[in-house]
Amino acid sequence: MAVSYIVNQKSSECDARVGTLKTPHGEVETPVFMPVGTQATVKTMTPDELKELESEIILSNTYHLYLRPGSKLIKEAGGLHKFMNWDRPILTDSGGFQVFSLGNRRNITEQGVEFRSHIDGSKMFLSPEKAVEIQEDLGSDIMMVFDECPPYPADEIYVKKSLDRTLRWAKRCKDSQNHADKQALFGIVQGGMYPKLRKESALRTVELDFPGYAVGGLSVGEPKELMLEVLENTTPFLPEEKPRYLMGVGTADYLVEGVYRGIDMFDCVFPTRVARNGTAMTWTGKMTVRNASYKKDFSPIDKSCECYTCKNYSRAYIRHLVKTNEILGFRLITWHNLYFLVQLMKEIRQAIKNDNFKDWRESFYKSYQHN
Ligand code: GUN
Ligand code: ZN
Repeated sequence: MAVSYIVNQKSSECDARVGTLKTPHGEVETPVFMPVGTQATVKTMTPDELKELESEIILSNTYHLYLRPGSKLIKEAGGLHKFMNWDRPILTDSGGFQVFSLGNRRNITEQGVEFRSHIDGSKMFLSPEKAVEIQEDLGSDIMMVFDECPPYPADEIYVKKSLDRTLRWAKRCKDSQNHADKQALFGIVQGGMYPKLRKESALRTVELDFPGYAVGGLSVGEPKELMLEVLENTTPFLPEEKPRYLMGVGTADYLVEGVYRGIDMFDCVFPTRVARNGTAMTWTGKMTVRNASYKKDFSPIDKSCECYTCKNYSRAYIRHLVKTNEILGFRLITWHNLYFLVQLMKEIRQAIKNDNFKDWRESFYKSYQHN
């Protein structure tokens, strides 16, 4: 087995747990947030900087790297770790999610998905077998099955058909995998917003026996309460001794709520994307650094933050950089945002270890405003 997972401690008050995920490129303490490096780079950050802020694992994308520079080229370079100079664990998403969001530029069949490249319009094809082959060429520690993420809203008949196909595809992914000893393949639970279908998808995916399970198809535009309700109707059907990954979630309050409901891993472009829009993540909620109110504010983004950015730069300076489109501005906010999420997950793990996560969560919400 390429990846193993052990639960070190469970909360006595909720489904939260801390664990250790062992991969061929090192161990990861969970719950963990994985920064996204779509194009084989976590935008604006060097791997050394990611290590300095204590990121333990990153995510990259099959779809983008397959189109450019090509997964064979990355294989020739010695794999994704070597190509991008990151020697810690990498999880790659399968491309399913990206391909399905291409709208009318794609055609789905049982065999796979035919689509036009968003770069040059050329015809491309992704299938379960192809997605595994690409991820094997990339050499990620954790690969994801090729799935369909239904849009929101979607009717029950469509979602049921889609989850049946996702299960057939998951089986094909597993059957076409060549190096289960070097790379783990995680299953993905779908089922839209229907508790009955979520349960079915979870049970049938678990039957296929993967070393880890993701909850997909959430954070697709549904209200927060609905997402949490669906999550509550999914994680109870996943085995306790395997890692659980909630795909596409990365705001502080959702991370807290995901952990509360038994999630161990998260990823999202949010912290890095909003940084490039001049938005910082803080313990009190989002902060729009480009706002005029910070023009002469010489205090750091967050006085209590010990990141490189907050130790050395003021809101006024960062605002100026953002307003003038200076790359350093986006870099500094990205650094802060990723550091913030590392600290948040650290605090969460500590609270679970102390078995006071419920109290910790309450005090977190005393200052945090979802905005
Ligand atoms: N990223 C966010 N949601 C999803 C999903 O449902 N499937 C996949 N493959 N990736 C995702
Ligand atoms: Zn900071």
